[in-house]
Amino acid sequence: MAITPDLSVDIGGLRIKNPVIAASGTFGYGTELSPFYDPSLLGAIVVKGLSLQPMPGNPPPRTVETPCGLLNSIGLANIGINAFIKEKLPLLADTAAPVIVNIYGNSVGEYSELAGRIEGVDGISAIEVNISCPNVEKGGMVFGTDPETASKVTDGVVKRTTKPVIVKLTPNVADIAVIAKAVESAGAGALSVTNTFLGMSVDIASRRPVLTNVVGGLSGPAIKPMALYLTYRAVEAVKIPVIGLGGIMNHQDAIEFLLVGARAIQVGTANFINPRAALEIVHGLRNFCERENLSDINHLIGSLIKE
Ligand SMILES: Cc1cc2nc3c(=O)[nH]c(=O)nc-3n(C[C@H](O)[C@H](O)[C@H](O)COP(=O)(O)O)c2cc1C
Repeated sequence: MAITPDLSVDIGGLRIKNPVIAASGTFGYGTELSPFYDPSLLGAIVVKGLSLQPMPGNPPPRTVETPCGLLNSIGLANIGINAFIKEKLPLLADTAAPVIVNIYGNSVGEYSELAGRIEGVDGISAIEVNISCPNVEKGGMVFGTDPETASKVTDGVVKRTTKPVIVKLTPNVADIAVIAKAVESAGAGALSVTNTFLGMSVDIASRRPVLTNVVGGLSGPAIKPMALYLTYRAVEAVKIPVIGLGGIMNHQDAIEFLLVGARAIQVGTANFINPRAALEIVHGLRNFCERENLSDINHLIGSLIKE
C-alpha cells in the first residue's frame, strides 16, 4: 500500500505542513499569485521586505535578465509596515499558510522598532530579518557582512518579539559560517541562506550600466550551486535550522538542498517564470517521498552520503 508521507517540518519554533516557502520579493504581499493556485497549499509565505516608512525603491530599469539568472536592484520598494498590517494582512486572513514578514531597517533601532510593531499582530507567524539586501544605499547588506552588527540586529529583534526569528544571510561575505554563528549566538531561531549575489550588467552600445543602480543582486538557476554550497556550510556551522534558497526551480533542486541539511527551502525567481513553481515543488516532493518509501520528509533532510 502507498504511504502518505508526512512533509511537515519545524523551522525554529514554527511548524509548517510542508517545507516549501515562497521567497520574499517574489510573491508580492501573499495574494498576487492567488489566480494561479491557493497559497494555503504552501508551507509558508514570506512577504515583500517591509520597512518602517513606505519606500519607492530605485528608479528603473531595475531588473535585467542574464543567462540563467535575474539581476535586480528593486531597492526594497514597499508600502511600509503600517499599510501592510492595515491593508494587506486582512486579505491573508483566509490563507492557511503561515505568513512570515520580512523586515529591513536603516539602523539597529529600526529593526527592533519593526519587530515591536509586529509583536501582538495576529496573522503573522514569524519574522524574517533581511540583513542581506544588496540594493539599498544604507542598511540591508551592511548589517549582514559584519558579525558584530549582524548579532546586534538579531539581538534587537529577538528582544522585541515572541515570534520565531529567522535571519536571512548574504552570500557576499568571505565565510558565511562566521555570520551564521554570530546570529545563532544572538538568539535567532533559524537562518535563511541565501539572498542574492552582487552582480552587474553593461549595455555596450551606450556604454552604461543596464541597471540605474549600477549594481544588482543575481538570483535564479545561475546561483544554485553556490547557494547550495553556502547552505551546506551554514548547516555545518550552526545547530539552528537552515532554510535553503537560491535558484531552486523544481523539486529535484529542492531535494539537493534538503539532502545537504536544509530544513526547508524557499522558491524565489522560479515564481516569475512559472507562477505555479512552488506548488509543483510541493507535489514533486510528495511524489518523491512516496516513490522512495519515505514516511517522513525529515528522514531525507541532511542524509547526504559523503564517503
Ligand atoms: C525581484 C526580487 C525582489 C526581492 N526582494 C527581496 C526582499 O524584499 N527581501 C529579501 O529578503 N529578499 C528579496 N529578494 C531575494 C529573494 O528572496 C531570494 O533570496 C533570492 O532571489 C535567491 O533565491 P532565488 O534564486 O530562488 O530567487 C528578492 C529577489 C528578487 C529576484
